[in-house]
Amino acid sequence: MRIDIITVLPELLQSPLNYSILKRAQDKKLVEIVVHNLRDYSLDKHRKVDDYPFGGEAGMVMQIEPVDRAITQLKSEREYDEVIFTTPDGEQFDQPMANQLSMAGNLIILCGHYKGIDYRIREHFITKEVSIGDYVLTGGELAAAIMCDAIVRLIPGAIGDEQSALSDSFQDNLLAPPVYTRPAEYKGWRVPDVLLSGHQRKIDEWKHEQSLERTRRLRPDLLK
Ligand code: ADE
Repeated sequence: MRIDIITVLPELLQSPLNYSILKRAQDKKLVEIVVHNLRDYSLDKHRKVDDYPFGGEAGMVMQIEPVDRAITQLKSEREYDEVIFTTPDGEQFDQPMANQLSMAGNLIILCGHYKGIDYRIREHFITKEVSIGDYVLTGGELAAAIMCDAIVRLIPGAIGDEQSALSDSFQDNLLAPPVYTRPAEYKGWRVPDVLLSGHQRKIDEWKHEQSLERTRRLRPDLLK
């Protein structure tokens, strides 16, 4: 799998993509993540990629030419399953979408910026518009980093113990049960006895009950 991210702020993506599981998955060649500076595709001598909006609103708008050049160049080199645009008015990113995208071949993620992007880009190049939540970020870079993190950890082999991705919160529409480690007692606060019992069936039942209870209490919407 290859993920190409197009952005006006490549620096912002350097560190989130190069630690922990994202770094290991790239080292193991499970995924290649390539960040492109949109300004490299500008024909302007000042590497400009935005301009004033028609109709005179406030704020600058990302221009279509550099985006067209960047996407057309990438598409001439390989096939892509989706050309994603990060935007607060997109489809809500969630675990099912992360699962689906983790099984894709190659992805382009275009990070939104400024007041918006020329709408023709969305009409003619973008296949999927994605929001990471109902709040407005300064740009789409952090949204792209979050999506990459959630997607890449689901690629088989990215996590040492594959069970651990399968037992994540949301993977089965339930929140994960609580986990504990040593010491079994700290300042009088004890780990639940069942977890120390060595009785695997009882432990599994307890975990499932805890998942259900936490989901009912904290995220009842997931059970509908
Ligand atoms: N760009 C700005 N806000 C965003 C959001 N909530 N999700 C995705 N991209 C964004």
